[in-house]
Amino acid sequence: MDRMRYEIVHDLQIPKIGFGTWTIGGRGAPDPSSDESSRAALRSALALGYTHFDTAESYAAGHAEELLGQVLHDLRIPRESVFVTSKVAPEHLQYDDVLRRCEASLRRLGLDYLDLYLIHWPRVGMKLEETFRALNQLVREGKVRHLGVSNFNLRLLKKAASLSETPLLTDQVSYSLPDRTYVKNGVLDFCQQNDILLTAYSPVKRRNIRGNKTLQSIAQARGVTSEQVALAWLTMQPRVITIPMSSNPQHQAQNLAAADLVLSPEEVERLK
Ligand SMILES: NC(=O)c1ccc[n+]([C@@H]2O[C@H](COP(=O)([O-])OP(=O)(O)OC[C@H]3O[C@@H](n4cnc5c(N)ncnc54)[C@H](OP(=O)(O)O)[C@@H]3O)[C@@H](O)[C@H]2O)c1
Repeated sequence: MDRMRYEIVHDLQIPKIGFGTWTIGGRGAPDPSSDESSRAALRSALALGYTHFDTAESYAAGHAEELLGQVLHDLRIPRESVFVTSKVAPEHLQYDDVLRRCEASLRRLGLDYLDLYLIHWPRVGMKLEETFRALNQLVREGKVRHLGVSNFNLRLLKKAASLSETPLLTDQVSYSLPDRTYVKNGVLDFCQQNDILLTAYSPVKRRNIRGNKTLQSIAQARGVTSEQVALAWLTMQPRVITIPMSSNPQHQAQNLAAADLVLSPEEVERLK
């Protein structure tokens, strides 16, 4: 059973279901009025057994990282028992900026290394060679364990993979039952053929799931929720992991448990 909860790639065991932190601590800017509920969401995720936390320097302008760092510190979570992903924003892809921004993320998180560091979005005119010169240096210095990208199309993903001195770990992209852009554009295939994880974001956003009759009927027959079926559909796919976000402990638990759900070939066919 447990094996289904993990993906193993490049000697790394990573949970199929991690925890997103968009809206933790605010949105584009910090919102201190939500600090207590944000901390509560993180504490309950940790208590339930989430170990992969996905954040970014741009989430609540760094405040999501601060709150995650505080909660990990307050609960005295051993460093090796969590896997922390953060992202450098597209406006900071120059060599010096990448180094400085990574230090700032580490400081806010209270960590001395990141498990995974991603380029959050590509940017027109970016010089990927220069960005990867900094990213590779961060890995050599031990400040980052693994590198990845986000929202990269196939052409950019191939380029990034060729520039990374360590095997590129992931392309984090929007992927859910109704959004198969990165299947159609060849990214999923490329990831599966090259041992790169596809990290599916926004896997259960309400607009994606609400009103899908097939999902509802499978969920009802199984005694689970539509969101759980949507997550199981993702996690059953090789090299796909996902990072749903919920501030509701019941949803958090259901999302984590979705990795144990095995859909039948008939159900998968119906979801096509
Ligand atoms: N790389 C990028 O550019 C990028 C872009 C977007 C997101 N992300 C990452 O991916 C993470 C997840 O994406 P997301 O936050 O956009 O969307 P999501 O996780 O698909 O959806 C979050 C929403 O779904 C609800 N929800 C979650 N689980 C549920 C369940 N079991 N039943 C009912 N409702 C449920 C949540 O409400 P409740 O709190 O009420 O449960 C919340 O409103 C983000 O937090 C972020 O870390 C990355």
